[in-house]
Amino acid sequence: MGSWTEDEIVEVLRTARRKDGRVLFTFPPHSFYNHMALEDARSLARYLKSLPPIRNPIQPRTLPFEPQPMVADGPARAPQGRTRERATYLMGALVGCRECHSHHENGTLVEFAGGSPSDPFQGSFRLGPDLPLRQLEKGFAAFPYPGFAVLYGSNLTVLGHGGALERVPTERIVRAIRQGIDVREDEYGRPRPIAHVMMWQFYKDMADVDALALADYLKTLTPVANPVGVRLKLFGTDWEAAFQQTYGEPPTPEDRAAFGMP
Ligand code: HEC
Repeated sequence: MGSWTEDEIVEVLRTARRKDGRVLFTFPPHSFYNHMALEDARSLARYLKSLPPIRNPIQPRTLPFEPQPMVADGPARAPQGRTRERATYLMGALVGCRECHSHHENGTLVEFAGGSPSDPFQGSFRLGPDLPLRQLEKGFAAFPYPGFAVLYGSNLTVLGHGGALERVPTERIVRAIRQGIDVREDEYGRPRPIAHVMMWQFYKDMADVDALALADYLKTLTPVANPVGVRLKLFGTDWEAAFQQTYGEPPTPEDRAAFGMP
């Protein structure tokens, strides 16, 4: 991007429109960068321009449709401090928590209540050595994990206001976000690690003020009961059982072929 100006990079980040007029195919988190503050997009552009060039010609993409540009509607400067406005900005424009921690029930978004028990494509993750996306799938990618497993995003509405984990101190939530340690101990009182799917390895350098703003925000959510009790279901080597749990139906011969299963 050495030949791009900072403004041109800001434009592609916030609208998906390249300087040659082509429009990028966006997916989360790109798809919400149109809400990014101008100042933050400028910082990113400046950083990108500071990188030493590496020659790596990328194959032209092939898409069955033409993507549409986005409308940049972020503020000039992002809200600052340990505030609700800051948390809303971070989640909406940069880090994305809603995407993994919410699900749809009868067409309505149930925010931050974790994975859906009835829709395996919403807020759940299929984990396994080789669980590629199925053709009709509209959910998330699969993540490597020893053995076959299905992991549900946790219910974040139970951390305050009469929720099951109301007494959890804010620092514990911050620790979960940045260090990947569950707010709850295991049954023997030992710290419990959070799966890598949760993006804590990227959030680890998040500033105190930002992590605290997010934790404060989560504590204000109205508790929503979510019958997904178990967050992680392990299936060992039983691929068929993992498939059934994930997709709600047994695998067809085509599925077997797609997943490389005999
Ligand atoms: C890529 C998906 C993804 C994103 C993005 C994500 N999370 Fe998570 N998060 C998960 C999953 C999956 C778990 C459960 C992991 C487990 O059970 O080991 C989790 C667990 C958590 C927990 C621990 C909850 C508990 O009960 O111990 C907290 C807190 C949390 N996430 C907060 C956040 C916040 C705040 C953000 C945004 C800054 C965020 N997450 C973004 C997937 C995600």
